[in-house]
Amino acid sequence: MKLADLHDSLRDCQACRLASSGRTQVVFGTGNPHASIMFVGEAPGFHEDKQGVPFVGAAGKLLTGLLESVGLSREEIYIANVIKCRPPNNRNPQPDEIETCKPFLLQQIQLINPKLVCSLGNFAMQTLLEKKIGITKVRGQVFRLPEFILFPLLHPAAALHQGNLMTPLREDFQKLKKVLDEMTTAPETSPPAPNTPVQMDLF
Ligand code: URA
Repeated sequence: MKLADLHDSLRDCQACRLASSGRTQVVFGTGNPHASIMFVGEAPGFHEDKQGVPFVGAAGKLLTGLLESVGLSREEIYIANVIKCRPPNNRNPQPDEIETCKPFLLQQIQLINPKLVCSLGNFAMQTLLEKKIGITKVRGQVFRLPEFILFPLLHPAAALHQGNLMTPLREDFQKLKKVLDEMTTAPETSPPAPNTPVQMDLF
């Protein structure tokens, strides 16, 4: 299956209640389908739902600037969300909605096959790490999962709501820059055994 086929198969997704909770459209993802770096957020908001593209509202503008600050363009990476439909009133995704949408995210990751997945915020990190742990405990750390390296960052929207998180968010991106530099110079290491997240000591 190609990424475009997965996208087509989800255009009229009815797998959870979000299909009939006021969504305009399914927000599948955007960017380079062969990207080696992928970003995963939480769920579409108002603007994303209207435009059908992730991270185009205020948090998206902040994200675009942070990406540029570490030399990444939106065109070279791929951006998606855990949940592909807007929850009503921007409420948090519910556990059953995450469970329903997670296989689509995993399939998306498998088809893109990035080396590095950067999760934004609690929901994306917990979904991909499969651990109920707080983002402040793991942000800026590198986890080698069987299929890709996971790098959890704070969510840009959190920094917009809580100004004191802006500096830590910028720090996360500076660490990301180091990870990117490390990845381009370090030789590939063999993957760990399946289902054993290994915390890497890069710094
Ligand atoms: N927040 C997210 O997590 N995703 C978006 O697409 C927009 C805002």
